[in-house]
Amino acid sequence: MTKGPYDLLVIGSGAAGLAVALGLLAQRPHARVAVLSKNDLSEGSTRYAQGGIAAVLDAADSTEDHIADTLNAGAGICVPQTVRHVVEHAREAIDWLVDNGVVFDREGPGLHLTREGGHSHRRVVHSADATGKAVQTSLEARLRESKAELFEDHNAIDLIREKLPRGQQGRVVGAYALDRRNGRVHRFPARSVVLATGGASRVYLYSSNPDGSTGDGIAMAWRAGCRVSNMEFSQFHPTCLYHPKAKSFLVTEAVRGEGGLLLRPDGTRFMDEYDVRAELAPRDIVARAIDDVMKRLGCECVYLDISHKPAEFITSHFPTVHAEALKFGIDMTKEPLPVVPAAHYTCGGVLTDLAGRTDVENLYAVGEVAFTGLHGANRMASNSLLECLVLGAGAARDIAAKMDTIAAAPALAPWDETGVTDSDEEVVVAHNWDELRRFMWDYVGIVRSTKRLERAKHRVRLLLEEIAEYYGSFRVTNDLLELRNIAMVADLIIRSALARRESRGLHYTIDFPTLDSVAPPQNTILVPKNFSIRRLT
Ligand code: FAD
Ligand code: SIN
Repeated sequence: MTKGPYDLLVIGSGAAGLAVALGLLAQRPHARVAVLSKNDLSEGSTRYAQGGIAAVLDAADSTEDHIADTLNAGAGICVPQTVRHVVEHAREAIDWLVDNGVVFDREGPGLHLTREGGHSHRRVVHSADATGKAVQTSLEARLRESKAELFEDHNAIDLIREKLPRGQQGRVVGAYALDRRNGRVHRFPARSVVLATGGASRVYLYSSNPDGSTGDGIAMAWRAGCRVSNMEFSQFHPTCLYHPKAKSFLVTEAVRGEGGLLLRPDGTRFMDEYDVRAELAPRDIVARAIDDVMKRLGCECVYLDISHKPAEFITSHFPTVHAEALKFGIDMTKEPLPVVPAAHYTCGGVLTDLAGRTDVENLYAVGEVAFTGLHGANRMASNSLLECLVLGAGAARDIAAKMDTIAAAPALAPWDETGVTDSDEEVVVAHNWDELRRFMWDYVGIVRSTKRLERAKHRVRLLLEEIAEYYGSFRVTNDLLELRNIAMVADLIIRSALARRESRGLHYTIDFPTLDSVAPPQNTILVPKNFSIRRLT
C-alpha cells in the first residue's frame, strides 16, 4: 500500500528526528510530514539519556574552552568547523528546548550545570539524571499536537532512489517500511527523506542502548550509495551497572563529575595511575583503564563509589540510578556500585555536511546515524544530544528552503515478494544475532588486534552471505531486517578498524599501539560501489 505522498519523511523519532520534524513544521505549517519509528515513538536512545546536554552558560566558561575540550577528546580528528558550528549554537538549542516545554534543573536564577569527563568546566544542562526522558517527552508531545502523520511500529527497510536512464540512480524519492503489527510492507513516497535512526551499539553483546540501535540508517544509506566515515570509533561507556539482570543499565558519568571514585575490588583507586584527570579523563581512557584493571586482576567488575556524599545529595542528583540499583539490592548512598564498560555510542556514520545533507540528493542524516566530524575519535559526554538539536535545526532550514523546488515523488514500485515464503528456520536468525554480537565483543571491542579483526572479518563475510540468501528466500521480519543491518554495520566497523594502522581515541590495537605521528591525521571514509560524486558543501 502507498502512504502519502509527503513533503518530508523522517525515519526515527528521537531527538534528531523530532528536531527536524518540528523545525520544518515551524517554518512550513502546511507541509505534509510523516514520522516513522520502529517501536513506539519514545523508544530510542534519547529517552534513556541521563547526564545532559553540553552548553556554555556559565560566565566563567567560554565557547573557545568547549571547542578545545571537544577537539581534545576527539584525539586530533574532529572537523574544526563542525565543532565550532555546534558549540556556537548550543545556547540556541537549549532555549529552543525550554520554549518547547523541557524542564531542566535550576540553580538560583539560571540552570544548574553538572560536570562530566573531558569538560574543563561545569557546562552540562540536565534534568536530574533523566535528561533524555524530559527532552523526549516534551518534544514528542509537541509532535503529537502537530499535523505530522505518525507511524509507530514501522521498520524502514530500504530507501528508494529515482530510476534514471541507463540504469543510473537519481534522488531519493521515499522508502519501504514493514508494518510490524501485520507484516505488510508499505511505500512512503516523499520529496525529502531524513535518516534519524540513531546508532549501532547493539552490534556488541553488551550495550547501554535500547534493542533498536541496530544501525539501520547507516546500512540503508550505504546500500543507497552514501559514503560512511569513522566506523572504527565505537564508544564504550565506562560505567554500566554490573548485575546479571541489570541489562547494562547506564550509571551516568555525572556521578564521577560530582565526585564518584572508581575502585578496584580491594577498595583502592586506580584512575590516577592512568591519567592526570583521573575519574574525569575522557571516556576512551577511563573505559580502557577499567578493561585493563579487570583483565589484570581477573575480576568481573570494578566499583564506582559516591557514598561519601550526603544521601540527600545522591538521591536528588541521581534518583534514576539510585532507584535502579536498589532494585538489585544495591544502595549507592551506602555502598559502591559494581560497574563494567558497555558499547554506548557510534561516533562514525553517514557522511554529511552541516545541513545534514548526504551524498544522495534530498537525503539527509541527522543525529547518531550521521558523521559530521563533531566527535572525532572519541565523543565527549553530552555533545550528542546537542548535535541532534543543532544539526536537526540546520536540516529543517535546508529542507524548508528547498521544498517548493523539488518535484513530487513519482509512483513507487510495489514491494516485490515474488518467490518468497514464510520462514520455517527462525533459529538461523536468532543464532546469527548471537554469534555476531559475541564475536564483535570479543574481537572488535575495547582492545583490538589485527589477528582478531581478521577473524571477525572472515566470520562477518560468511554471515553476510548466509543472511543475503535467507533474505532472498523468506518474507521479511523485524529480526531479519535488524540482523541484515547489524551484519552490514559490523562489516563496515571491521573494515574501518583494519584500515586504521594506529591507535587513536576509541580505536586501540595492540599491533599499532601509538598514534601515527608521520601521516597527517585523517578520517576513515568508506565508499560504496554505487557511489556517484555529488559535492557536499
Ligand atoms: P535515537 O534517540 O536512538 O532514536 C532513533 C529513532 O530511530 C527511534 O525512534 C527508532 O525507533 C528509530 N528507528 C531506528 N531504526 C529504524 C527503522 N529501521 N525504521 C524506523 N525507525 C527506526 N547523549 C548526550 O548528549 N547526553 C547524555 O546524557 C546521554 N546519555 C545517554 C545515556 C544512554 C543510556 C544512552 C543509550 C545514550 C546516551 N547519550 C547521551 C547518547 C544520546 O542519547 C544519543 O546519541 C541520542 O539520543 C541519539 O538520538 P537520535 O535521535 O539520533 O537517535
Ligand atoms: C552519561 O550520562 O554518562 C552519558 C552521557 C553521554 O553519553 O553523553
